[in-house]
Amino acid sequence: LLVPKPKPVIIPVNPSIEKENPKVGLRCTVKDIEDLIEASPKGKVSYCRCWRSEKFPYCDGAHRDYNAECKDNTGPLTIVKQE
Ligand code: FES
Repeated sequence: LLVPKPKPVIIPVNPSIEKENPKVGLRCTVKDIEDLIEASPKGKVSYCRCWRSEKFPYCDGAHRDYNAECKDNTGPLTIVKQE
């Protein structure tokens, strides 16, 4: 007996950010990131990967509520100053 594989449910990753644009990309230089890290009191910069941050493209911790609601485990891309 062959049971057909269920089709995966496809939902948009981005619920609301610049939906009028066909592609929302980020482009920055290493210098840009170094400047952000230098200006940060914690010596790091975190970029949102869950698309729920009010401070997009930066992480504001919204991934925690998203993860709890959706049983997911996403988190930011965090770039730290090299020691
Ligand atoms: Fe999106 Fe943290 S708010 S990864």
